[in-house]
Amino acid sequence: MANKFEPLIPTAVIVNGGAWGDEGKGKIASREAKYADLVIRATGGANAGHTVVFNGKKLGLHLIPGGIVYPQTTALIGQGVVLDPDSLLKEIDDLENAGVKDVEGRLKISGRAHLVFPYHKDKDQLEEKYKDNPIGTTKRGIGPAYEDKDARVGLRVYDLLLPAKELEAKIVVATRMLNQLFKIDGITEVDAHHLAELYHEYGKRIWQMVVNADILVEEFVRARKKIVVEGAQAYRLDKDWGDYPNVTSSNCVTPGALIGAHLNQYDVERVITVVKAYFSRVGEGPFPTEQLAHIKNDKVLKYKPEEAYVGDIIREAGGEYGVSTGRPRRCGWFDAVLVKSSKRALGTDYLCINHVDTLGILGKKLGSVKVCVKYHYQGKIIEYYPDDIELTGEVPQPIYEEIEGGWDISSTARSYDELPDNAKRFIELVESVTEMPVKFIGVGPANDDLIVRNM
Ligand code: IMP
Repeated sequence: MANKFEPLIPTAVIVNGGAWGDEGKGKIASREAKYADLVIRATGGANAGHTVVFNGKKLGLHLIPGGIVYPQTTALIGQGVVLDPDSLLKEIDDLENAGVKDVEGRLKISGRAHLVFPYHKDKDQLEEKYKDNPIGTTKRGIGPAYEDKDARVGLRVYDLLLPAKELEAKIVVATRMLNQLFKIDGITEVDAHHLAELYHEYGKRIWQMVVNADILVEEFVRARKKIVVEGAQAYRLDKDWGDYPNVTSSNCVTPGALIGAHLNQYDVERVITVVKAYFSRVGEGPFPTEQLAHIKNDKVLKYKPEEAYVGDIIREAGGEYGVSTGRPRRCGWFDAVLVKSSKRALGTDYLCINHVDTLGILGKKLGSVKVCVKYHYQGKIIEYYPDDIELTGEVPQPIYEEIEGGWDISSTARSYDELPDNAKRFIELVESVTEMPVKFIGVGPANDDLIVRNM
């Protein structure tokens, strides 16, 4: 234990998404969590999703940090999260049914995290309906829950501990304006009494997990315990840094993750940014390296195998379908300019690139793989991701470097030397454009299918 005047050694690893989410953050987060004491989910809500495998069973988690599967960890849902208790309790049950030990004993929830109610999901749908260009949200009520937080009428996890009558009174205030809106749209008014009863019941199960997370986190920091923050969403979905308005409603870059996790800048040991060797995006918004695909209204259209577009080939090779929504993802080539531009937002120490094996297979199928190294934009060649795309209405046109042929990587490869030359050329090209070291290289679907370079 550090004494009062000794500077604390930072022990927190932050795992971020470097593009539009779904980069496979869970894989590296899980590796880091294996030896962690505290694993934290900091931002977003049940819009995020990652699959963890426990005892051979696949579990889809949306709110609980995946590191809970390691029995030595304490798992915290931090103040930056918007929590849907129904989704949370289902996840707890799934984890316990799969044999994960003492989930309710090891899971802690910040009393300051805000709650998601069913009316937030209705409002999410309504907001999308009223837009000329809907965002394509996950419809999990995330935006409206953060709106209530900003409007200072949101209910927090602490409110679940109130007597049902007091909880009801707060729900009445929180939904007073919303009910007017619902009335115009023919949506049934919020039944505050029923919701209070329901959430009060949730509270009975949740109350023993609710903590003052400042004190909990401080204890781990002072004892120099290893902390892992499992990031949700990603750089270009951040509400300030991302492709506004096609973003999520939280700050999911490093500083946002710190606030959400009850940490500060002195706690950060390193930041790992995760990307895939090809890119994907769900929902609307610019995607400079996107490739044509048979997708319409979030559905894959019927097409003959010989008619597959490059976007279809990437999607199928990578199994690019959403964990939370099942939506097919838009797919395209690696965008090194975008990753380079994320440095300020994320403060990356190391890159992790997943699916390097999949990219090799794609290269063999398509004859080459591409990496975007610059953009044509507004009549100029630029080397940064522009921030006025919405204003100009022009999506930057990628300038690619091509690597001929593909490669085969055995998922048992564990050293950089085992990589085929073309795969090394890909990694080195990414490093030279992004100016970030690639320390972790994903070579297969399992968590351990990873090359970790000494650097
Ligand atoms: P919301 O977060 O549900 O409001 O959705 C806003 C945008 O963020 C939509 O384009 C979603 O598809 C996207 N989004 C939110 N969470 C994730 C995620 O975990 N992975 C990928 N995209 C996400």
